[in-house]
Amino acid sequence: MKILTVFSHPNPDSFNGAVLNTIKDTMSGRGHEVKVRDLHKLGWNPILTSGDLAKLYSGSVPDDIAAEQAEVRWADVLVFIYPIWWFERPAILKGWFDKVFSHGFAYQQTKEGTVEGLLKGKRAIVITTSGSNEDNMRENGVLDSINTCMIKGSLGFSGIQDVIYENLYAVPTVSDEERKGMLERVKSICEKL
Ligand SMILES: Cc1cc2nc3c(=O)[nH]c(=O)nc-3n(C[C@H](O)[C@H](O)[C@H](O)COP(=O)(O)O)c2cc1C
Repeated sequence: MKILTVFSHPNPDSFNGAVLNTIKDTMSGRGHEVKVRDLHKLGWNPILTSGDLAKLYSGSVPDDIAAEQAEVRWADVLVFIYPIWWFERPAILKGWFDKVFSHGFAYQQTKEGTVEGLLKGKRAIVITTSGSNEDNMRENGVLDSINTCMIKGSLGFSGIQDVIYENLYAVPTVSDEERKGMLERVKSICEKL
């Protein structure tokens, strides 16, 4: 399968970087074709400008957006790896969705006033990491917010219904052994494909 991994952490040596390496190694070891979009390394500009909007509304696609859309089109499976920052996606990733999942590419309005997802058939894996533990994440509604905004919102709205989601909790404070166990969980998620 063709796997597009969108990585949204500024430091490749972080725990998120270890998750990325685990996914790359496991997926390629299983014969999948893996591409990585490291948004920080790419210098991705997350701001959807008035110029971008004008172009998109007039039916043309700015070059940086077209390049990402080509990668999404190529992929069977989209994998997102990111830390929870302020209850949600880091801005660089939110801006990737703002720009790349555009009207006419990821979804379209129907004549009946409903929305049709255009990325039907693709699958997604979302791996997040948090400073908080599971009880805290549930209590403060972060898991609900990820479900609403990322899983149902950006992905579901665009027709991607088959989503595996896993959060790795309290990453900075758990033991090395527990972090190793988390990477084993990530491996087993890859093996489900
Ligand atoms: C700007 C910023 C905002 C953060 N907001 C949250 C948050 O809302 N909830 C949470 O549990 N952790 C939060 N954290 C902690 C990170 O999620 C955590 O340190 C990270 O997932 C650990 O992975 P890493 O070592 O790869 O960075 C935040 C960290 C930063 C830098």
